[in-house]
Amino acid sequence: MGLLIKNAEIVNAQGPWEKAQDIWIDNGKIGEIAPSIRRDGCPVIDARGKKVFPGLIDLHVHLREPGREDKETIETGSRAAVKGGFTSIFCMPNTTPTIDTAQVVQYILDQARKVGLVNVYPVGAITLGREGAQLTEMMDLKRAGCLGVSDDGRAVMNAGVMRRALEYAKMAGLLVMQHCEDETLSAKGVMNEGATSTLLGLAGDPVVAETIIIARDIELSRYLGTRVHFMHVSAARSIDLIRRAKAEGIAVTCEATPHHFTLTEDVVKTFDTATKVNPPLRRAEDVMALHEGLRDGTVDCIATDHAPHTREDKEVEFAVAPPGLIGLETSLGIVLTDLVPAKVLDLPRVVEKMSTSPARLMGLSQKGEIAVGKDADITIVDLNKEWTVTREDTASKSKNTPFLGRKLKGRVVTTVCGGKVVYQE
Ligand code: DOR
Repeated sequence: MGLLIKNAEIVNAQGPWEKAQDIWIDNGKIGEIAPSIRRDGCPVIDARGKKVFPGLIDLHVHLREPGREDKETIETGSRAAVKGGFTSIFCMPNTTPTIDTAQVVQYILDQARKVGLVNVYPVGAITLGREGAQLTEMMDLKRAGCLGVSDDGRAVMNAGVMRRALEYAKMAGLLVMQHCEDETLSAKGVMNEGATSTLLGLAGDPVVAETIIIARDIELSRYLGTRVHFMHVSAARSIDLIRRAKAEGIAVTCEATPHHFTLTEDVVKTFDTATKVNPPLRRAEDVMALHEGLRDGTVDCIATDHAPHTREDKEVEFAVAPPGLIGLETSLGIVLTDLVPAKVLDLPRVVEKMSTSPARLMGLSQKGEIAVGKDADITIVDLNKEWTVTREDTASKSKNTPFLGRKLKGRVVTTVCGGKVVYQE
């Protein structure tokens, strides 16, 4: 049985459709788009007055399964994803065991299929155990279903290892996704290094820990002619480096997170461990630079770095709390509330950063656009709906977000994945 979406105000990255359309979905694909479609006896969703986006895609999610199912599982993470409007998520390999073999990839794919809500793409590790020394069998990871590799949570510190990783990943057709942090510089830092960290008596993690890896990898990418994707970039200087590299035609891309482009290190003054994240929240100038990077295309995508942690793990001293915050359910709301009215992005650019461009980076040619023949992954959004972020309303198993109590405008009302309604408010 198909599905009919009536009166859809479609927004694609290349622009919005002028008039509302009906969308006929059949066999998991978009079958027809026309001003008025009639099909008898099939389920109908009336999207009148709502915006209809291609399903959102998040390149950076921690699902914690296998190993820390007390923080999140593939099931709870999938529920959080569809509630936030995501139809495809890429899950990071810092699980236990690490996603560094085809077997672990297979386990995650099997679990995700059983849950059946969202497309889950496991990201394989670059090095065994994410230890930075020995490369994983990238061909095996690719065959098992990986599209990208990362040691996220850690950078590949050794330039020689990174060189081989870039070469092998290119051969295997995998995107290398780098967590940019020189551990010898970030050391024991728990927040941005500067006047505020000194004032608070907290160890600082300087911007240069991030930029030195970005600068190095730009050089490797230039030398080898390979692609590299920089994850969760947080600083003005990082944007400068990437902007310049792109202008020179080097194949680098990057993502930014809602917390990095809306919050500053000032919120750490509360000592709320939900504000502890890696890379750390930076200064207002950095937030402005991320906005400029989003505007001018230096920042390719918005990713959440959804990083669930239990209350027990987070309710400790700031210095020892694990870094990370959840983001799947608030990402679109924050973008619509903070970036769209401020004219950092218009709606087509939101779709580009949250769907079209992540699909393109990962080679998902059937996703990222609402068009006949594409996968029926669709997110329906009520731009006028106001809501407040609360613990109770959070589907994720963990509730570690600095946005609790935040009022947002714009909310997902329906998510369709592969032609199936997977979330309805
Ligand atoms: O804040 C973070 N948390 N940054 C990372 O890179 C890893 C993540 C996690 O796994 O908790």
